[in-house]
Order: sequence, then C-alpha cells, then structure tokens
Amino acid sequence: MSVLGIDEITYGADDLPTCRRFFLDWGLSLVNEEADQLVFETLNGCRVIVAAASRAGLPPAMEAGPTLRQVVWGVESEADLARYADNIRQQPGFVQEAGRIGCTDPNGLSVRLQVTRKRQIDVECAEHNTWSSKHRVNKPSPAYERATPIEVGHVVFFVKDVVACERFYLESFGFAASDHYPGRGAFLRCAPDGGHHDIFLLQRPAGDSALNHVAFTVRDIHEVFGGGMHISRCGWDTQLGPGRHPISSAYFWYFKNPAGALVEYYADEDQLTADWQPRDFEPGPTVFAEWAIEGGIDGNTRRQKSAAAPKGQFITDRK
Ligand SMILES: [Fe+2]
Repeated sequence: MSVLGIDEITYGADDLPTCRRFFLDWGLSLVNEEADQLVFETLNGCRVIVAAASRAGLPPAMEAGPTLRQVVWGVESEADLARYADNIRQQPGFVQEAGRIGCTDPNGLSVRLQVTRKRQIDVECAEHNTWSSKHRVNKPSPAYERATPIEVGHVVFFVKDVVACERFYLESFGFAASDHYPGRGAFLRCAPDGGHHDIFLLQRPAGDSALNHVAFTVRDIHEVFGGGMHISRCGWDTQLGPGRHPISSAYFWYFKNPAGALVEYYADEDQLTADWQPRDFEPGPTVFAEWAIEGGIDGNTRRQKSAAAPKGQFITDRK
C-alpha cells in the first residue's frame, strides 16, 4: 500500500480570466468552466482546479493572495483509503466523505486521499544516444512547439516546521525520505520505488507557510525547452530557467503563475528504490542549480532573452 502520486490540486485565485489563458497556454485541457471555477486536466487526467478565492467551501489559504488551497493524493483502492483513514483519524480537520478522506497537514494545507482517477497513458518520449548506449537509431530526436504536461509531478511548500511536516507525510501517508537539507528541507517521495520527490518542504528563517511551486512532468528535456519557449512567446515571465538541478538531476524551467507562486516544467528526474540512501546537503545556489539561464529563452528568437537578437548572420558565417 502506498500513495501513487498527485491526483488533483486546487488553487484559490482572484483573476480567473488570466489564469484561464495561462493554463491553456501551459498545455492543459479545460474540461469544465463555471463563473467561479475552472477545471483543467493534464494528459493522464490529473486535475488542476482554479477557484475564485471567494468560492464557497474552498479550504482556507495558508498565505495572503493567490495560492494552493488543497492537494489530493491518489491511492489504489477503497481498502487503502480505509487503512489511511486509521492513520490520520487523530489529525486536525479529519474528514471522511464519499470517496475521499483527509485532514489538515501541519502547515495548514488541506490534504485529501482518493482512489486515483488518473488514466494509464502511453506517450512517446525521446530516446538518448550516449557513448555507451545508442537507444535512438535511424530516428531523429523530437522537438516540441509547445508542451502538453503529463501530470502534476510534485509540489513545494515553505513550511513553519519542516520536522513536523516531514513526520506527518512519513507517518500518515507512508512517504519515503529522498534527501535533506538538515533542519531546513525534506525531499519526499510517495513510495520507495519512484521519482526523486513528490513533495519538497522547505523551512525559511522566517518560518512562514507558503506555496513555492507546482511542477508539471513533461516527456523529456526537449519538451521542457519547447514548452518553455511557447510560454515565453505567449508573454508569460520566466522566474528561472531553463536549468538543471543537481539534486534529482531534473531539467527545469520556472515561470510566474497568476494562480499563485511559481510553476515548473521538468523532466528526467532520478528514479529511486528502497536501496537509495538519503543524502544531506547545505542549501546554496549551486546546490539548487547546476546551471540555469536567467530570464529564459525568447520563444521567437530562440536565443537567451537578455541577449541581442540574431542579426541575420550566424557565428560560423564568413564575410
Ligand atoms: Fe520542482
């Protein structure tokens, strides 16, 4: 029995028309629309809900302004739900309703479990040739005009108490620790076998609760680039990227999100098993990014945004 991943997230936001445009550009499908709520889906049916902050029944916000209000994690079966209910029955805000159970995590976030509604899908991804293994033969590598994210792969929060929060996810949901910034940060995955992290918890000196980012899994590094350049062409602002994380090895590109905090395309994170030994790191810019481009890549010129546009000559041209 283990949690499978993120099934649904809900934002509370104040400018739904802008959020609607952003998430359509981001590559999600709009599957339902009401005056005060938008429901999007990723390729595998993971749901991204953007609700007006004033919508009745929306869980409370952990910070001022647009932010994430709820994360729903998927499990395999009703029997699993019943067992997790026993784990969290004593937690604040415990609820057991039709098809869902949940509570409030130590950071003030509404968390729920449901039998997963995500679909098994087949997607074709890039294969890579290295010196020692040639996986792509008689076949060009893909390029993407825009991204169509597969799912929400992880969420990242600033937390008041990283030790209490980590303990909650380990003990209540059976998560496994992948790596730590001791006393500051915890990278956790849902199950011993899986991608490097499904949630990352980071305690700032201020000890505040806030959303840092929501990350969408795309097929491969080429979709990180193609998707990011499309978002850039659409006029949305890069926060940082493209770049590469030393912890998790993933390629990333972060954008500012009108629904709250940051949003990320990422691909190629480390896959771990029960044999993995968690590592300790000291936080710092080179630990966060092996390399990264400030300001992003312009989608039209295909060049670093802060660099001069090409003048009709390439560096290899000779006069
Ligand atoms: Fe991330």
